[in-house]
Amino acid sequence: MRPLIAGNWKMNGLGADVARILGPLRDAAAGLACDLLVCPPATLLAAAARLAGSRVPVGAQDCHAAPAGPHTGDLAAPMLREAGATWVILGHSERRAEHGESDALVRAKAVAAAAAGLSPIVCVGETQAEREAGAHLEVVRRQVAGSLPDGFAGVVAYEPVWAIGTGRTPGVAEVAEMHAAIRAALQARLGPAAAAGLRILYGGSVKPENAASLLAVAEVGGALVGGASLDPSAFLAIARAAPALPNPAASR
Ligand code: 13P
Repeated sequence: MRPLIAGNWKMNGLGADVARILGPLRDAAAGLACDLLVCPPATLLAAAARLAGSRVPVGAQDCHAAPAGPHTGDLAAPMLREAGATWVILGHSERRAEHGESDALVRAKAVAAAAAGLSPIVCVGETQAEREAGAHLEVVRRQVAGSLPDGFAGVVAYEPVWAIGTGRTPGVAEVAEMHAAIRAALQARLGPAAAAGLRILYGGSVKPENAASLLAVAEVGGALVGGASLDPSAFLAIARAAPALPNPAASR
């Protein structure tokens, strides 16, 4: 299994950014020991998929739980798939906070994504107040249990809310503790065999300077990168810092 380095452009990017950012990634992808993924705004999905071809898959940043219908302004998973997406980020903390998305809604979206052929990246993570109250493990365990559907075959991204866009990151011991807890929660939710093959990404202020230490932590299977993914040289520096992952089949 290779690490996954995924870029979340959030609400950034116009047409000219597709070639500026994706061109260098496409050219470098074959020489990397990790998988790359780029999640631009939905308006750029088709252009990004055309430019990157199969070398850099593209993903959306959200989808509706219904396959079609009267939901003005929303996008359904089959539409995103047709535009060229093969992945979709779901339950990002910005959507949980700004759009009131619950675990149950994220779970319904994950079902819709899988039905349309999109691999979901389900985001979990505690707020600063929850960590200060010592509730971070319990909060994230609850999010994993509630946000993943039966048979989930995607990726989980641990993104502490207080680390997103702040330049602050948890220490390696805190990341290790949380990723071990998420692995155990995945085993409880999906069974040991299904849980073993799933990558757990870390996200929140990942930069070239801290990528090597974060990506070396046990159970960290890659990174979900926000701000630094808008700079192709920074994003590639993070990708080059990703070490090979242990093969889960070999350790069983
Ligand atoms: P930053 O890398 O900008 O902190 O954002 C992380 C994130 O939210 C990725 O989904």
